Amino acid sequence: MENIKTSIVYDQDQIQKRVKEIAQVLTQSFKGKRVVAIGMLKGSFRFYCDLVSAMDLDILCDFYSASSYGLRNKPSTEVRLSLDVQVDLQDKHVILIEDIVDRGITLNSVLSHLKARKPQSITTVTLIAKPDQMQKNVKMDYVGFEISGDPFLIGYGLDYREEFRNLPYIARIET
Ligand code: IMP
Ligand code: MG
Repeated sequence: MENIKTSIVYDQDQIQKRVKEIAQVLTQSFKGKRVVAIGMLKGSFRFYCDLVSAMDLDILCDFYSASSYGLRNKPSTEVRLSLDVQVDLQDKHVILIEDIVDRGITLNSVLSHLKARKPQSITTVTLIAKPDQMQKNVKMDYVGFEISGDPFLIGYGLDYREEFRNLPYIARIET
């Protein structure tokens, strides 16, 4: 991490506690239902693992990968899909698991794509939301942490140029 100054925002204990709380609520609401947990790669890979492990349900696991194009500070509505879901979603309950919702462009685009597969329901879970950044009405059913302003966060799956995903905590990059 040379030359990059960071400070911890959510430590390992805070994250694990919050993940367990969300998992408990999801376990209650989806008891007896056919659930497909869809992880948004790559950023959600750690949150996804911890969350599905803590849910006491029979779950079909699948993944999706999409990224919004262009520079972060420029408006962009183009979302590129690089990995699609394999499981048949028809009549199943989808839990879509995101790492972070910033402007909401990625999540909105993925949602409309998944709705076309006719699942019985779609529930969205994001570990982090940046409400001040949100450009559109975004359906977020469960949010781990809301953070104000526009800090750039790394760790626990979140990257800066593919680095830092392995950190067990979430930190902000100080500019
Ligand atoms: P949105 O379409 O603007 O909501 O962008 C969401 C995507 O941007 C996330 O899934 C992340 O991949 C990326 N992103 C947004 N904010 C951050 C951040 O603070 N750290 C790392 N990635 C971020
Ligand atoms: Mg992402």
